[in-house]
Amino acid sequence: MDIKQNIYDNLDFFEQYQEIRAREFNYNKQIEQPHFLQLVPNLQGQVALDIGCGAGDFAATCIQKGAKEVLGIDISANMIATAKERHQQECLKFLNIAFEDVILQQGSFHFISSSLALHYMADLNAVIQKISKALSRNGILLFSIQHPIYTANMGRDNWITDERGSIQHFAMDRYQEEGMRREDWLVDGVIMYHRTIGTIVNTLLSNDLSIEKMVEPIPSEEILQQVPNFEKTLRSPPFLIIKAKKL
Ligand SMILES: C[S@@+](CC[C@H](N)C(=O)[O-])C[C@H]1O[C@@H](n2cnc3c(N)ncnc32)[C@H](O)[C@@H]1O
Repeated sequence: MDIKQNIYDNLDFFEQYQEIRAREFNYNKQIEQPHFLQLVPNLQGQVALDIGCGAGDFAATCIQKGAKEVLGIDISANMIATAKERHQQECLKFLNIAFEDVILQQGSFHFISSSLALHYMADLNAVIQKISKALSRNGILLFSIQHPIYTANMGRDNWITDERGSIQHFAMDRYQEEGMRREDWLVDGVIMYHRTIGTIVNTLLSNDLSIEKMVEPIPSEEILQQVPNFEKTLRSPPFLIIKAKKL
């Protein structure tokens, strides 16, 4: 099954998403990115690829961290246009293509990253196999995805509340039922793919990648005081970050 949904080129979705990302406080800025950035290896003189690069900010960060060349790819023309407008540097290239369709030279990247994009791709094994082949020996893959606890029951009511609207618990269900999930978030029918933690880990291991670190990021104490609503993320993790090394 190969369904590549390009939801970020739906203008309604794209505009609402941009608005969320521009907010002072959002899950990416205060929860996912600080932990993701901590796991970036030494990029001095390295060639990097960012999959699902969005507006290109992380690709630009790789250049600031010493990478000599970074390629950002994204299925969304809106995203690539934004990235090209925001980041204009010779050593930074952006390509509008689905990762599933791009042809990469074997061993051509020292570092491959992907922040919150791989859960949109239907065939995880094909994706990881392509990444592994494109990495040089000892190259690093760093990626984040929606946490499997979060994707498992996606599309149903996850946060169960009482009659007064207070949260009682998070409904974790359908965990072993891997595959497509549809969620009405910003627009109707956003498609993602759920896989168990076992599948994710074993897919990496069977593609010559060893796991260096797994992180289930939470907000700092300081952020929790500023945004009490983020306490929800201590009850159910929104993201999973994995750093792996090519053998
Ligand atoms: C949540 S956004 C994250 C963007 C960026 N990585 C960031 O952290 O700001 C997910 C991105 O993945 C892209 N994407 C989804 N499916 C893709 C695919 N099959 N190939 C390439 N990019 C894809 C989307 O267009 C979108 O820009």
